Amino acid sequence: MKFISFIIVIASGALALAQLPHCPEPIGEQAYAHPEICDQFFLCVNGTLSLETCENGLVFTGKGGVHNHCAYNWNHEVDCDKRQYDPTPISSGVCEYQFGIYEDSPDCSTSYIKCEYGVPHQLPCERGLVYDQRIHGCNWPDLLLEKCNPEAVVGFKCPAKVDPNSLAARFWPFPRFAGPDRHSLFLCTEGHPRLIQCGEEKIFDESTLTCEDA
Ligand SMILES: *[C@@H]1O[C@H](CO)[C@@H](O)[C@H](O)[C@H]1NC(C)=O
Repeated sequence: MKFISFIIVIASGALALAQLPHCPEPIGEQAYAHPEICDQFFLCVNGTLSLETCENGLVFTGKGGVHNHCAYNWNHEVDCDKRQYDPTPISSGVCEYQFGIYEDSPDCSTSYIKCEYGVPHQLPCERGLVYDQRIHGCNWPDLLLEKCNPEAVVGFKCPAKVDPNSLAARFWPFPRFAGPDRHSLFLCTEGHPRLIQCGEEKIFDESTLTCEDA
């Protein structure tokens, strides 16, 4: 998989349609950007060329992506450059595009909607995070203060004052505290809590307030 996407990146930069009457590689699968249309691309499978169209809501990026060599269209201004793309949504329902990521509520939400073939799936953010429409992903609640209460999302209230001699104060300006389980910790940033996961292989050590190898 890594190898294939490496080829695609090199190839999409170096080749244009005019130079592609047949597939340059006799074996394997390669995808090449269409020189003029952002949501189309050329696919070579064992030397056989076909013109492909990305599913609605997706554009060809050459970097693998969401579905069949295509990625979400939010980045198209950067990635499409001069290649044409019509971003008109095809639906006024939850799934504006057949493929996309959307907020499930205008309020602070710990979940979001992922559309695949026009079918919405509600997915949870990782614990302690909320959906941020600006990045089409989950983010720290203290970065969405206009609608989120980090204390309610995270389940922790940062102390107004931290004893300067305490272990927590060593991490100033981001004092730390034990999390809700052995694999996480609370960190405070400007008085707002974040829940930090240690990762599956690490365990929170109360004597150092850090995540240590299990
Ligand atoms: C491409 O060729 C390889 C090796 O000959 C073969 O294993 C594979 O099934 C072929 N792929 C397709 C899609 O025909």
